[in-house]
Amino acid sequence: MYVIALLQCLILTTSGQSLLDLMKYWDLDNMKSMIKLVTDANLTHMLDQEGPYTLLAPNDDAIAQLPRNALEMILDDKQFVVDLIKYHMLPGRLYSRQMTNDMTVPSLYQRSGHAENIRFNVYRSGDYTTAEGAWLSWRDKNASNGVLHILDKVMYPFPVQNIPQLLTQQKGKYSLLLSAVKNTSSTQILEGGPFTLFAPTDDAFYKLDYNFRAALFANLTALRDVLNYHLIGGTIWEAGFSYDSVVNTIYGRNVEVKSPYGKPLTVNGIRVKESDITVTNGVIHEIEAVLIPPDFRYMVKY
Ligand SMILES: *[C@@H]1O[C@H](CO)[C@@H](O)[C@H](O)[C@H]1NC(C)=O
Ligand SMILES: *[C@@H]1O[C@H](CO)[C@@H](O)[C@H](O)[C@H]1NC(C)=O
Ligand SMILES: *[C@@H]1O[C@H](CO)[C@@H](O)[C@H](O)[C@H]1NC(C)=O
Ligand SMILES: *[C@@H]1O[C@H](CO)[C@@H](O)[C@H](O)[C@H]1NC(C)=O
Repeated sequence: MYVIALLQCLILTTSGQSLLDLMKYWDLDNMKSMIKLVTDANLTHMLDQEGPYTLLAPNDDAIAQLPRNALEMILDDKQFVVDLIKYHMLPGRLYSRQMTNDMTVPSLYQRSGHAENIRFNVYRSGDYTTAEGAWLSWRDKNASNGVLHILDKVMYPFPVQNIPQLLTQQKGKYSLLLSAVKNTSSTQILEGGPFTLFAPTDDAFYKLDYNFRAALFANLTALRDVLNYHLIGGTIWEAGFSYDSVVNTIYGRNVEVKSPYGKPLTVNGIRVKESDITVTNGVIHEIEAVLIPPDFRYMVKY
């Protein structure tokens, strides 16, 4: 048994292994769900015979952690599975050393005639690379028909909106933030980027002292300053923050972001309620209180 397995292994490493072979034989315990998805979607031929492609393959844990609606769609909707897999594939070979921070690469997934991009980020001098915020936990496995990287998260949902579009779509939660963005004429800026936005909910704004909030909303310069204190140039996913990061904002003052292992992210001590909300021009982290720049604190009554 052992000898046969060893022989198989030797044969496989000497002949050219396809992307499918790599998933089947290199990391059998981790890629079962992905192989099943690929089989169900009838894409085995593509990953075995065609290419070259770069495959960003989520591991079993990653697929198990998908939100319930996505898991249901996987069972019911074959086209969704095809789209999901194609979103995890790029044309050609892309090795991690070719990835740069905030580089976007078109995937094989086409939506209304154009390819959806994948955003790569490179943190800690190249030690830590992400695709749409998912960590490349195993990189650069060369196959006869491409290159395989393994992800610790599924890239889902597909980002389809930019920052102002997402705030507009979710205005039930972000109506005050959206109104602040419009009043300060920041919409166009927020369509550019890429940006990281710490987004306070309406509840967060209502936690502010009433008089301070009224004064803030009445002074557009102050409102713009406070808004810019929630904005960082470049995309920083949760995975991109270290245990204790100090990050400069567009306002010019720093925020302190802590990412304690296994605990929610905080910014200036404020809890991030939901991290890594994907948008086409960066990332949004939802916060439960408004960030007040240090030079504004005199305005706040405690
Ligand atoms: C599966 O894919 C192969 C090759 O691309 C194709 O010939 C075949 O018709 C497909 N089968 C189904 C059920 O879609
Ligand atoms: C990867 O495999 C291809 C095809 O087998 C080969 O041409 C290429 O040199 C390999 N690249 C690396 C970095 O091993
Ligand atoms: C935006 O301007 C409108 C009209 O002046 C005002 O009623 C509203 O409170 C302002 N919103 C914010 C968040 O400043
Ligand atoms: C508005 O806010 C700016 C920036 O904080 C401040 O310099 C200015 O004095 C404020 N204006 C009024 C009328 O309070």
